[in-house]
Amino acid sequence: MFEEAQYFAPVATKDDGSVVVELATSHPGFADAVYRQRRNAIAALALGHTPGDPIPTAEYTDEEHHVWALVTKELAVKHQKYAVREFLDATKRLGLPEDRIPQLQEVGDLLEPLTGFRYLPAAGLVPLREFYGVLADGLFHSTQYIRHHSVPLYTPEPDVIHEVIGHANTLASPRFAALYRAAGRAARRVETDEALEFVSKVFWFTLEFGVMREDGEVRAYGAGILSSYGEIEEFRGMDIRALDLTAMGTTHYDITKYQEVLFEAASFDHLEDTVGTFWDTCDDDTIARLLAASSA
Ligand SMILES: [Fe+2]
Repeated sequence: MFEEAQYFAPVATKDDGSVVVELATSHPGFADAVYRQRRNAIAALALGHTPGDPIPTAEYTDEEHHVWALVTKELAVKHQKYAVREFLDATKRLGLPEDRIPQLQEVGDLLEPLTGFRYLPAAGLVPLREFYGVLADGLFHSTQYIRHHSVPLYTPEPDVIHEVIGHANTLASPRFAALYRAAGRAARRVETDEALEFVSKVFWFTLEFGVMREDGEVRAYGAGILSSYGEIEEFRGMDIRALDLTAMGTTHYDITKYQEVLFEAASFDHLEDTVGTFWDTCDDDTIARLLAASSA
């Protein structure tokens, strides 16, 4: 049922310095010792990386490159049907490889001339303030592993397919990239945890799971929808509400399920005017007022 959840597997560094990714027993790769060893090695690469240095190369198997090729092909068809124009145009400009998994270094090399964004490797969950904060500098934390090849259209955690097909294609658009940077500046400006959580929830309901009215249809621009083989077929049937900052900043979501409540921008201008302006101007006080109004 859940084609694409957003739950990161915990990563632990043992006393002997070895890095272990703790996959849940329900993870499709749990019983595959070779896959798990590769996951550990990829996580260790990220933990050992210093920002500014070239991103270390992750080793992938032929089966994993096939997973990328298959998902790329399947999603491309669905994008034509369901994605906003801005995303489709950006995807063409970025020109990701279709037959193999690109290295994150290569993704940054393709993106930087378009919008200045580069990728940083992440072993797993990155603390909110850091993840969002560096967006202001044009940096995007990304996992480097790929889902288990036995179920190519399913992942219980955000993998390189989500991070690159979903986010890099979006980040190749100057308009979307400007919104990501604005979210990053907002995350750096706010000081309280409540305000940071509000900023991150607005990000969740827009740049991860946002939809937009285009030519009379509901189309997706959120990376979480656009990278999910299952969710992209379902989002039009969800509870779609008008864009509303307070509602987005306070609505609870479950990262292990399809998003049941979505927020629709009336247009790209509407998204920029509402959400972009909010991120450009919000501080602890404005968010405290929105929270107080919502609970009154
Ligand atoms: Fe994401």
